Formats: sequence, structure tokens, C-alpha cells
Amino acid sequence: MTRLVADTAALAAALGAQDEEPVGGHQHRRAVVMTMGALHAGHLALVRRARELADHVVVTIFVNPLQFGPAEDLDRYPRDLEGDLALLSGDGLLGDGDVVFAPTPAVMYPEGDPVVRVTAGRIGEVLEGGFRPGHLDGVLTVVLKLMHLTRPGVALFGQKDAQQLAAVRRMVRDLDVPLTVVGVPIVRDSDGLALSSRNAYLTADERRRALCLSRSLAAARSAADEGGASDQILAAAVAVLTGAEGVDSLDYAALVDPSSFEEVAPGATGPALLVLAARVGATRLIDNGELTLR
Ligand code: PAF
Repeated sequence: MTRLVADTAALAAALGAQDEEPVGGHQHRRAVVMTMGALHAGHLALVRRARELADHVVVTIFVNPLQFGPAEDLDRYPRDLEGDLALLSGDGLLGDGDVVFAPTPAVMYPEGDPVVRVTAGRIGEVLEGGFRPGHLDGVLTVVLKLMHLTRPGVALFGQKDAQQLAAVRRMVRDLDVPLTVVGVPIVRDSDGLALSSRNAYLTADERRRALCLSRSLAAARSAADEGGASDQILAAAVAVLTGAEGVDSLDYAALVDPSSFEEVAPGATGPALLVLAARVGATRLIDNGELTLR
């Protein structure tokens, strides 16, 4: 049976039990999938990949206050622990010896907000960092704590939060965190909408208009395949986002280097990531896609 633990002593005991078992046939003894709950098929894809890579899987469920700005949706962020546990135990995803760690803020931050934090540096200041100051610092701080608490061989993150994934990779490299980071492709609904816990906020009309994000990625990819320059590719993406069936406001559309998140120079060639953030109604959505500049 999957163990649900809510405090660090119970977590340490559950991991100790895993460590005493003989090594199984996987590449890693333990994989961790960190989430803020409100699980959907995108999270389940992370768990499924974790299952393939490790003997045991730890899923963490924690809505981390440090990564929400003062005007953001911390209080109304969807929370459904029972529903999450039902999803995780369905489909044979988690099994005997696997662990769900669902701490409260008091467990994670027993002395209140941590004084010492991780800073994402430059990658935390551009794009998402520009619109959500301190967000990636808050993410990295909790991710590093969860890495220490769960001691995984491999940690899996979704490619939908591409800047977060790049920042985590950079932290692991810069601070010599002894584990492997694996990125898992974006899961989309059949109509192209990237899955996100925040999609639950969308009305029917907003959800229809939210499809312009994936349509904009497709338009940009066609422009890139036709050999368009970076400004033409961006213009193709923005035209879809700001057209009749578009978003209510566009935070950014940018072509970036996939690991540094610096915007690509005009005339650059090779792989790039188109990253988008926009509001549809009151909901802020992000999406991204890889393309090749020729
Ligand atoms: O991607 C998320 O859900 C969160 O940012 C994470 C990685 C669980 C840290 O709180």
C-alpha cells in the first residue's frame, strides 16, 4: 500500500524502509515527483515515467507559499488531497512501498518563512521572473528542501514549466546536488490545450480562447519551418495570440535559448524555445514549444 505521510519524521522512516530493501531492477532506487496537488494527466505522466526509472516513487504534494506573489492565487489555488490520492492509487501508478508526502506549511517551514533561500539569479529575473518577481527563488528553495528530505536518485519535472525546469537543472549543477533531473514532455488535451491545474479556473469561453496559445506555437513552428527569421516567427505567434479569438493580455512571447532563457539574437540559428505567458480572463496561462531557427 502507498504510504501517506505528513511530517518529516514519518517521511524519514518510510524512506529508511525503502533503503533497507534489496536494490530492484531499476536505474535508481528512488524517484521524486514534486507537485502542488490538483493533479491531472500531466502529473500522472511524471509519475509513470518515475515508475519506469526507479524502484520507488515519492510524490510530494505541497502548495508552497514562497512561490506566490502577494497578488497571486495562493488562497484559491485548487486543493483536493483525497482526489489526488485516488488518482495516484488508480491505474497501478503507486504501489507498495511508494510514498506520498503531503506536509503542511508548518512542517515545511517550522520557524516561519525561511531566512536563507536559494536565488535563481539571472534566470529568475527574466520572463517569468520579470512578471513574478521572486517566484523562481521560492520554487528553488522548496525544491532543494524537498530534494534533501526525499533523497532521490532522480527528480522529474514537467517541460510545461520550462523556465522552472531550466532553473532546477542550473541549481542542481551549480550546487552539486547529487541527483539526475529528468524533464517530461507537456501533456495536452486532444484540442491542444496544455494541461494545468489552473485550467480549472477557465469558463467555457475562456477555455476556447485559451487554445490560441497552442495555435500560436503551431503558427510559429510553421514560420520556422519555412525558414522565417526570429522576428517573423515571433510576429506569427503574436498575431494568433492577439487576434479575434485571442488572449485578454499578453505578458510575453519570446524566443529563448532553452537552457539560459536569454532571448536569441537576431539571425541566430539552431534550437530555440518559444515561451508564452498570457491572461485569459483572470487566469494566467503559460505554454512553450521547441523549434529550430534556420
Ligand atoms: O511545478 C510545481 O508544481 C511547483 O513549482 C513545484 C516544483 C512542486 C515546487 O513547488
